Amino acid sequence: MKIIPSLTEIARQTAEWHRQGLKIALVPTMGCLHEGHLSLMRRAAAVADRTIVSIFVNPMQFGPNEDFGSYPRQFQTDCDLAEKEGVHAIFCPESKDMYGDSFQTKISVTQLSRGMCGADRPGHFDGVATVVTKLFHLTLPDVAVFGQKDFQQLAIIRRLVLDLNMNIEIIGCPIVREQDGLAMSSRNKYLQGESRKQALCLSKAILAARRLVAETQQEIPADAVVAQTGEIIAKAGAKLEYAVVVDEFTLKNETMVTQQSVLAIAAKIGGTVRLIDNAKLFAEL
Ligand code: PAJ
Repeated sequence: MKIIPSLTEIARQTAEWHRQGLKIALVPTMGCLHEGHLSLMRRAAAVADRTIVSIFVNPMQFGPNEDFGSYPRQFQTDCDLAEKEGVHAIFCPESKDMYGDSFQTKISVTQLSRGMCGADRPGHFDGVATVVTKLFHLTLPDVAVFGQKDFQQLAIIRRLVLDLNMNIEIIGCPIVREQDGLAMSSRNKYLQGESRKQALCLSKAILAARRLVAETQQEIPADAVVAQTGEIIAKAGAKLEYAVVVDEFTLKNETMVTQQSVLAIAAKIGGTVRLIDNAKLFAEL
């Protein structure tokens, strides 16, 4: 496995693989890899000849009061995990090379970035869209693999690729969960003791919403699902940031639950750790 911090070197490497007729998959990450990330690498390996994993904690997507400084970093462990998955190259650029002093360009997927996490984290998705565009240009992948865990991010990237005529197939992979249901996240490292228990309220609320939908014979208003979700999160002592029932692709709010409906939740656990989770409401229990 090659470890490539240089922008020119990654471009040279991908050009060489393309010349050899090899199909390239990119898995963008911010490191601190867990099973969720590894599932994306396995998917990449199944559809492409070469997998590049990018590890870059992107300053542009963090707000001034967010956890950029303390975001968990474990580069050597990440390299070992990726190597075990048969990854061919780690692209790990430095901030100063990605964003020089005069950097001033921003990619904004305007409407899809507005609600949900976009409302709580102004500028976050511009940072994501900009860095993902740069990673795509630098690595020129045929395929890029993302998780449905960051469901709004996935919708934004699908839109970005269509709007900017990028010839890249975007694959979305299911959420990988801990045994007890908690969606895996690099930020789960912040959860200890009571907070770890409290964090279960997100997946519990999702399961309860799916049950409600499955048990109700006639159509069910989205409001009923949102209200139940709010109660479960509040009862656990967590702080709900949002709970919405939206269309999977347009992210528009739905009045009634449909086959396309996704329940998306963000909540603060233990007063500080912001977690997200989501699921299609008609999915199997
Ligand atoms: P990061 O949070 O490291 O996540 C990298 C990828 O892993 C994303 O596509 C995310 O959806 C996926 N992922 C995270 N947890 C998952 C889980 N439990 N199951 C399945 N997939 C999971 O998302 C980012 O980084 C950044 O915003 C990035 C796209 C790299 C741009 O900086």
